[in-house]
Amino acid sequence: MAKVGVIGAGLIGRAWAISFARAGHDVALTDADPGAIENALGFIDRALEELARHDLLNGAAPRQVRARIAGAGSVAVALDGASHVQENTPEQLELKRGIFAELDRLAASDCVIASSTSALLPSSFTAALAGRSRCLVAHPVNPPYLVPAVEIVPAPWTDGTVVERTMRFMTEAGHAPFVIKREIDGFVVNRLQGALLQEAFRLVADGYASAEHVDIAIREGLALRWSFMGPFETIDLNAPGGVRDYVARYAGLYEELFKTQQRQADWRGPVLDAIERERRRHVAQSALGDRQAWRDRRLMALIAHKRRAGKKIGD
Ligand SMILES: NC(=O)c1ccc[n+]([C@@H]2O[C@H](COP(=O)([O-])OP(=O)(O)OC[C@H]3O[C@@H](n4cnc5c(N)ncnc54)[C@H](O)[C@@H]3O)[C@@H](O)[C@H]2O)c1
Repeated sequence: MAKVGVIGAGLIGRAWAISFARAGHDVALTDADPGAIENALGFIDRALEELARHDLLNGAAPRQVRARIAGAGSVAVALDGASHVQENTPEQLELKRGIFAELDRLAASDCVIASSTSALLPSSFTAALAGRSRCLVAHPVNPPYLVPAVEIVPAPWTDGTVVERTMRFMTEAGHAPFVIKREIDGFVVNRLQGALLQEAFRLVADGYASAEHVDIAIREGLALRWSFMGPFETIDLNAPGGVRDYVARYAGLYEELFKTQQRQADWRGPVLDAIERERRRHVAQSALGDRQAWRDRRLMALIAHKRRAGKKIGD
């Protein structure tokens, strides 16, 4: 098992720490704000108990996984002996440039340096580094201790063996990594999410549906299948003859729709007031934290169910 340095102990850093420690690695968690490490460790203690209740700790007891996670007082301590470092500082280009320069200076030459950035291209903050060939993006979906997908995004100069090592490291930690072949803004996950959100805002802004109607269409409709198959497998099974038959039957319909989907709704305009009013009727502003904890419990139950269903019915 390896040592992993986790830089930044916010929402994403603390979640990665759980994921890596559950896989058996020793995790050193550091943050510019020492209070953030304390907060993260408190969160991790609570999350490990919940995970054990859902049998999501690979059979280990919470204290066994917790014993593998330590707070580190500096980046140098976190990196000492690490073979993978996962950077999770705020989404600001200059900050990432500075941190990556520090990580590249301090990390052992065979240590992979990965960023969790949601949207910054790896070439934008690794170009000037002596060790740029060992840097890449490993973008998780929040929270990574529950959601397996990870987008691996190499810069043009990232070594192929570093990509392979990161794929193996993530897979062995129970993740479902996939490589984006070339850098693209938004990678894949946020491009897909963005396309859906554009349509959702347009439908509400133009008065065709309420925010709740859009949420029902997804939550009680499309997302039931999407929780275990993607859009291409969906259409492969939605016509008797598979994907080609689906395209023969329905491509024309979508081509017509596409013509009406080219206008950007103003997300900041009156539609935002309408959506926020609806959302606050369902969940008060002051209850958002509780609702996030509810989301994580629902996710745990779903992941546990998917594992059982995968064994009983097949993946
Ligand atoms: N929140 C999400 O849904 C999500 C999902 C995927 C990826 N990401 C990405 O993960 C990264 C972290 O996001 P987050 O949501 O965890 O943010 P966050 O604000 O919760 O955490 C960031 C942490 O970094 C610490 N920090 C700031 N400067 C630092 C420094 N110089 N050295 C060490 N620590 C420092 C902060 O004190 C804070 O604890 C971002 O790049 C973000 O785009 C976020």
